[in-house]
Amino acid sequence: MLNKKAFKVATLALTLGTSIGFASFASATTEMKAAFNQSKFNPQYLALEDFGQKLNEQTDGRYHLTIYANELLGDQRASLELVQSGAIQMAIVANPLVENYNSDFGVLALPYIYNGPKHQEAVYTSNVLDDLFASSKKFGFEVLTAYTAGARSMYTKKAPVTSIADMKGQKIRVMQSDTMISMLACMGGTGVPMGQGEVYTAIQQGVLDGAENNEITYADLKHYEVAPFYSRTRHVMVADLVVINNDFIDAMTPSDQVILRKLAKESTTTEFTIWNNNISKAIAVAKANGATFTDVDIAPFQKSCKPLQEKLLVKPAQIALFKTIRSLG
Ligand code: GCU
Repeated sequence: MLNKKAFKVATLALTLGTSIGFASFASATTEMKAAFNQSKFNPQYLALEDFGQKLNEQTDGRYHLTIYANELLGDQRASLELVQSGAIQMAIVANPLVENYNSDFGVLALPYIYNGPKHQEAVYTSNVLDDLFASSKKFGFEVLTAYTAGARSMYTKKAPVTSIADMKGQKIRVMQSDTMISMLACMGGTGVPMGQGEVYTAIQQGVLDGAENNEITYADLKHYEVAPFYSRTRHVMVADLVVINNDFIDAMTPSDQVILRKLAKESTTTEFTIWNNNISKAIAVAKANGATFTDVDIAPFQKSCKPLQEKLLVKPAQIALFKTIRSLG
């Protein structure tokens, strides 16, 4: 985790690196840096890496992308700020982080809005989110496309949670957004917002009773070591968003912009495929390391979170988007 001073130093170093890169290689290869908060084995890393290779090929080497994994450039909140300021060019950040800028994004991560992965893929590969994605331009970055991060479920330290009553008093880490805190409340527990990199230690030290995430992240970050009870609440399918700095993309030639946008969109299909192929592997790794997976009757949780959906859908744009997404299921 970067403290304020380290963040400033990182920003300065990256800004200098970028401008030097532009100055000396303007006619050759433009370097692009992307921030990612998980490992190089994560399907999202692999899909973005593939995007970078194709971009390099299809622009005859004019662009070269390096992805910094494992929160090397800070947590998602810090990474998004680096993209906004132009210190780095791209990042993958979870939807709730962008929702902090424009609440309309909250619709994408409402509890139980998708029927399952097929429904989510239909939404992300259609053009129904184009206007929403372009709306972030006024904050200095553009959302190029969305990646799946599967369905999130609860995992805890002491015992499985299969009911709202089991959630009582449990301090569960959530991503840094108010919607995620409210979601935990409607599930019966207490949401504690923090960056991903701190979660393992916080559970280990007893600051948290658990967290909630998809199976791949659970295994990727070895959280089964500190919270071995994974309970399939499948309460939310959060989008992860591939974001790019405005000035950077605007400075590209129109034809290179077309290539970049097209490849970004196509990388979503790649990512869904890798993701879906990797879930069972992640479960097997977690089980081999002592985790147990428990099925949960989700109906009571759905019922309890229904008022939250209603509370969050206030603006006409949000209601319209909600209806469009539901109609694709
Ligand atoms: C998922 C998601 C990430 C997010 C993480 C988290 O892994 O894909 O974007 O950062 O959850 O809980 O922080």
